[in-house]
Amino acid sequence: MSRLRTFASEFDGRFERLLRPIADAAPEIVEAVRYSALAPGKRIRPFLVVRSCELVGGDRDRAWHVAAGVECVHAFSLIHDDLPAMDDDDLRRGRPTSHKRFGEATAILAGDALAFLGIEMLLRHEPDKDLAARMALVLVESAGWGGMIGGQSADISGQSRPPDLKTTEAIHDRKTAALFAAACKMGAMVGAGSRLGDIESLARFGRSFGRAFQIADDLLDLTETADNLGKRTGKDAVAGKQTYAGCVGVDEGRRTAQRMVDAAIEELAGFGDAASDLRDLVRHVVDRAY
Ligand code: IPE
Ligand code: IPE
Ligand code: MG
Ligand code: MG
Ligand code: MG
Repeated sequence: MSRLRTFASEFDGRFERLLRPIADAAPEIVEAVRYSALAPGKRIRPFLVVRSCELVGGDRDRAWHVAAGVECVHAFSLIHDDLPAMDDDDLRRGRPTSHKRFGEATAILAGDALAFLGIEMLLRHEPDKDLAARMALVLVESAGWGGMIGGQSADISGQSRPPDLKTTEAIHDRKTAALFAAACKMGAMVGAGSRLGDIESLARFGRSFGRAFQIADDLLDLTETADNLGKRTGKDAVAGKQTYAGCVGVDEGRRTAQRMVDAAIEELAGFGDAASDLRDLVRHVVDRAY
């Protein structure tokens, strides 16, 4: 999607500047943090932050540090997701994973650093300190034991269990959809003049989009090559992951993803043509899993 690629190149320049280290930062952590965070990601979550800000009438320049904070937490989740104790992957964003490049100890610490940097971005750069604290709470809740980290834990424990749809749904909601919803909610919060209804409809949009996104990610693991995705494929079934395809088959998995796309798009009804790029993005994410 060309809108997303254009956005990503603008975001990347700003993200690089926001990730310039403070004087005392340990050089090996600085290198590992920048290696993973600045690697070529799609930047979907930052896009959700900035576009949600604009959709509620905010100026996008209010949202960059929020977008950077969410992307830091996402980069942290990827580094830890790839560790030998978790998915044990050697390729991420077309490059060796952090632990392959720097060793496990540095990779773990770089992930930890990125988690804190995500919060720091908000607390340091948001001038309205009350808003900063409220956004930080949304971010930590979405990433913590009831969100991404909780979902990652359930993802690992689910590997030794028979496929189960309820378990799969609960994993996807937490490990992926929670951060998507938080990205939209925080973008709406930082957008000046946001109304409560807009915030909640954008958060619901993000959640449905995140569900569709993880179903598509699981389908791509079955159908795509490492060259095309920049990460290894064909691994989820071998690891015994809980996936829609594993529970209900590929075709019903696609239909479920499509239902999530429809649910996401429905939440954008009140925004009219201004939200057409978000509609396109959601459709594109699932279409590429065909
Ligand atoms: C990968 O997310 C992790 C999942 C939730 C499936 P992305 O596919 O957004 O990864 P990047 O940021 O583009 O590398
Ligand atoms: C990861 O899901 C979700 C995260 C919170 C990082 P996956 O394990 O399927 O993500 P990939 O396929 O490695 O990117
Ligand atoms: Mg995983
Ligand atoms: Mg993984
Ligand atoms: Mg995957």
